[in-house]
Amino acid sequence: MFSKLSIRLGLLLFSILLLIELLLYAGLYVSLADERADEVIGQLLARGNTHRDVLEDHFDEVTLNHVIMMESASDFTVVVTDGRGGILGRSADVEPVLLEEVLHSDNETVPNAGRVLESGWREREFIVTDSPLTVEGRHRGHVYMLAPSAMIRETVGELGRRFLMVGAFSVLLTILVIPFLTRFITRPLLRMKRVTEQLASGGRPSGLDTARSDELGDLARSIGQLSNDLERMRNERNEFLASVAHELRTPITYIKGYADLASKTGTDEQSRKKYNEIIQDEAGRLNRLVGQLLDLARSERQGFAVSLSSVSLSSLAESVFSLVGPAFQEKEVQLSCRIPDDLTAELDAGRFQQVLLNLLDNALKHTPSGKEVTLEAVRTKKGVRITVTDEGEGIPVGEQSAVFERFYRVDKSRSRKSGGTGLGLAIVRDIVEAHGGTVSAETRPGGGTVMTITLERGNGDGANPARG
Ligand SMILES: Nc1ncnc2c1ncn2[C@@H]1O[C@H](COP(=O)(O)OP(=O)(O)OP(=O)(O)O)[C@@H](O)[C@H]1O
Ligand SMILES: [Mg+2]
Repeated sequence: MFSKLSIRLGLLLFSILLLIELLLYAGLYVSLADERADEVIGQLLARGNTHRDVLEDHFDEVTLNHVIMMESASDFTVVVTDGRGGILGRSADVEPVLLEEVLHSDNETVPNAGRVLESGWREREFIVTDSPLTVEGRHRGHVYMLAPSAMIRETVGELGRRFLMVGAFSVLLTILVIPFLTRFITRPLLRMKRVTEQLASGGRPSGLDTARSDELGDLARSIGQLSNDLERMRNERNEFLASVAHELRTPITYIKGYADLASKTGTDEQSRKKYNEIIQDEAGRLNRLVGQLLDLARSERQGFAVSLSSVSLSSLAESVFSLVGPAFQEKEVQLSCRIPDDLTAELDAGRFQQVLLNLLDNALKHTPSGKEVTLEAVRTKKGVRITVTDEGEGIPVGEQSAVFERFYRVDKSRSRKSGGTGLGLAIVRDIVEAHGGTVSAETRPGGGTVMTITLERGNGDGANPARG
């Protein structure tokens, strides 16, 4: 019912609130108790002063008896002294030790407003006030008022009981409020936890509070974004696997079919030879496909870690031409190179050789005999631009960026015949992007394709930038 987080948060809040309440109530209680005690003491002194005033007006036996009689009916005790340690009268018996203490101060002169002689109600049995008695300018003694400390303790005790009640009530209220508070705080977090669990188990997250304008809203939006990315990646992976399966199945079907035919009894030698050739072709295609897939998988995993060094482009072209030259000769397509001798670029030579091989392979496939393919490189303001231009049929305008997607072929049947799988340009793009560059396809107005690679200095960081 309660999450671990809300229990922890609840306990923390409870302890903090409890501490605050405790401190506040304790402080308030102590100051109120002192105030109440001061009030009682003040009243006692005022009472003593009143008696003193009466006695000063009529300093005689009758008035003295009257004052004593008045106090004998109250909780207080009055002691009137003669200023020399002798007692003129008192309303009740007083403990000898206390009386001794009181009388000890009898000869002291005290301001007319009186004073508090003993205010320690917490530790002493009585509190005592002292009002000096002056008749016709002469000091005639003191009116001492004694009140039992129990009186103050009782009022303060009552105050304490009320505080306890209010305190208990606030603690109860705190306990009642905290679950709501913690739930209010933890709910969006728990919701996001649920959502990420849904994400992890492959579901579409629902109930994300992306409308909030605070940090939790930011978090919710990030999770939403993450979920979209994940969804896209899952779809891409599924599509990729479907394409791979499809591409693998075709040559395998051919191989199986022609192998069956070749092993049939009664197949003549010439047909068997033809079937074997087809099987070899298809096996070769399978082999190439698997190699390309491995390349792609590597690029996904480690972003085609490229190790850059300064490479002369003309010598790179030379080594590529020595590989593709025979094929061009055979098809009677002219291969030209226009690269300044001193042109260098920061490249991974091995990887880039593959780029040029793939591009020239495509150009050759799509260029009819007697035409020309040109490899060109020029220095630009920011780096180099490399182009492969052919005189083939070109790529339709709407498909010029699609050809870089995996398994994309403009004309499926034709490409199948010529052995294409549609991975060559995807690999080209991965490698070029790992160098921090871009690659694009264009069709020339007069026919033919121009493949353009742009490399900028200082962009090749060896990482394959994330593609959208
Ligand atoms: N120079 C070009 N002229 C015309 N079309 C091209 C050219 N280069 C590529 N294409 C089109 O783009 C598609 C994708 O090319 P890509 O190199 O990725 O695959 P492929 O050549 O078919 O197969 P692979 O290179 O994997 O053997 C080709 O099938 C083709 O339709
Ligand atoms: Mg190709």
